[in-house]
Amino acid sequence: MVQCKQELKQRMTTRKIGIMTSGGDCGGLNAAIRAVVLRAVQHYGFEVYGIRYGTLGLMARPVQMDRLLPERFDANLLRQGGTVLGSVNTGSPFAFPLADGTFHNRSQDVIDGFQQTGLDSLICVGGDGSLDIARKLALQGGINIVGIPKTIDNDVPVTESAIGHDTAVQVAVEALDRLQPTAASHNRLMILEVMGRDAGHIALAAGIAGGADIILIPEIPYTLAAIEAKIQQLRANGRNFGLMIVAEAVKALDGQHVTQHGGGEKARYGGIGQHLAEQLTASTGAEIRVTVLGHLQRGGQPSAYDRLLASAFGIHAVDLVAAGKYDRMVAWHNRQVIDISLAEAVASNQIVDVDGALVRTARGLGICLG
Ligand code: F6P
Repeated sequence: MVQCKQELKQRMTTRKIGIMTSGGDCGGLNAAIRAVVLRAVQHYGFEVYGIRYGTLGLMARPVQMDRLLPERFDANLLRQGGTVLGSVNTGSPFAFPLADGTFHNRSQDVIDGFQQTGLDSLICVGGDGSLDIARKLALQGGINIVGIPKTIDNDVPVTESAIGHDTAVQVAVEALDRLQPTAASHNRLMILEVMGRDAGHIALAAGIAGGADIILIPEIPYTLAAIEAKIQQLRANGRNFGLMIVAEAVKALDGQHVTQHGGGEKARYGGIGQHLAEQLTASTGAEIRVTVLGHLQRGGQPSAYDRLLASAFGIHAVDLVAAGKYDRMVAWHNRQVIDISLAEAVASNQIVDVDGALVRTARGLGICLG
């Protein structure tokens, strides 16, 4: 009888928290979900529910969510790329695209969906765009949220790393490692085009670690003359090949971005590698091949660093929920997990510091930055 009463009381007071992954997927998302579930259930006795496909799951009726039990979250999940919850990086609820080509504000549908779930708080794993949307929804609907930063682009402010960036850099370095011998075998210049939207973090880090001769990032507009001079210098030094890594959003001093057509809410970058190859072939006579790494940077097994970061972030996020500290984002700073206001986290983009350590390192190594 006493036990029954205790169980009933516990059931009545058990907190239910939700988690969703939003925006482009990346390595380490499952590790973050796992950490949230293990900490919330095992340490605090909370119930955890996974919202499927980000805000789309809260828009759907019935709301799409599943209870997440620790039994399902053994270490295998830690090793898996993607997100078991699914994600979405289009269709902001504030301007939701309709079939007739118009846009409709469906934010209240998302908020109503959340209220229907009976969840008392929500952990959102997202990049700058998704966290911005989540915060706006939270303010409008009085939802208790905590953010976890993830993005291969690594452009979320304050946090030194976002989940997924390290894995993407590792994939790009491996690509350069593989391109180098074939470049040398055929006397070629290899151009590797990588993602990153408006931030050049992936290209810069992978370019240095992968021994690139030329690194182009959006923060430093390039001139063809500078690249041509570098190619001449390599030749003069007896080098028979070259490695160049190009961030998808780079542009010339007087140029436009190269974008793909295909609709969507914002321009999709892509094609700068080929664009440069055509111009450089004509001006230098170099034999050039282009590799576009694309979504290979997002899939596959997460790096050890991303697994660590995701685990540490997941634990801290649940601790914030338990302490009732909302409207916060966890961040990695000086070897610690800290938390900052979500307002600060979504206020700006952390692009490459052109006077920072990595740009200085690249210049110090004699790498051409365009
Ligand atoms: O923001 C992450 C990112 O991978 C960018 O680097 C890239 O430009 C974009 O997403 C690609 O988006 P999609 O998956 O819609 O092609």
